[in-house]
Amino acid sequence: MDGKGLSICRKWFEDYTRGVHCPNAEIEKNILLKLAHTYRVRENITIIARSLGMNEEDLALAEAIALFHDVGRFEQLRVYGTFNDRISADHSQIGLQVLNRSEVLSILPAKERNLIRKCIWNHNKYQLQASDKTDFLLFSRLIRDADKLDILGIILEHFETREQHPNQALDFGMVDEFGLSPEVISDVVQGRMVRIAGMRTLLDMRMMYLSWIFDIHFPFTLACIKEKDYLERLLAGIPDDANSERAKDSLREYLQKRCEMYI
Ligand SMILES: [Fe+2]
Repeated sequence: MDGKGLSICRKWFEDYTRGVHCPNAEIEKNILLKLAHTYRVRENITIIARSLGMNEEDLALAEAIALFHDVGRFEQLRVYGTFNDRISADHSQIGLQVLNRSEVLSILPAKERNLIRKCIWNHNKYQLQASDKTDFLLFSRLIRDADKLDILGIILEHFETREQHPNQALDFGMVDEFGLSPEVISDVVQGRMVRIAGMRTLLDMRMMYLSWIFDIHFPFTLACIKEKDYLERLLAGIPDDANSERAKDSLREYLQKRCEMYI
């Protein structure tokens, strides 16, 4: 993407998000949260992409993908009052509809336009769609890593301050009960991301976010997770018992092994 294309994308995003605010304080709080998230994901994607030595044109494309990846969140919050996709709609699909209506992507070359759309669609899927297209895989992995890295920070802060600053939207309807569901433990012990369908409690949700490390692609992202101590800080809220210990060990061993591989 050239500088002109990036300027148009930046300007469009600023103009669009100026009009997404809401008089309802609870919804507005989450609109601001998603806005701040988007700008941090833009920073994350840039530093991860720079760690790979990407050129200026690719950095610009990565930035545009980061700016647009959650553009559907604002309409989702306004229409449904939630950012739980399961009880509203897939926010990546809403985002693509918003972009298509605006025609902002039509100024870009077809190749970039299609790549941006595919990356947005794939950014929130359990598994990245199989492909032999290196560009698609690279930019999708970048946005998935940059997004997860920031959400782990948001969720950690939510858990650490939940009593003083409750935010129901971030509880995703999970019950505040002791216990981890067997499906959740089983996913983590087998080294795969927790499937949302098996979750019931807030502890399950904590484990689900932790299991995202199995999907992190770039060593730089894992190094950031380790440096910020996200794993241990999130694990600290999970009481020890035989089952949780097995899951905790799996996560610790995985992160350690992946980090050692790239030293
Ligand atoms: Fe998203």
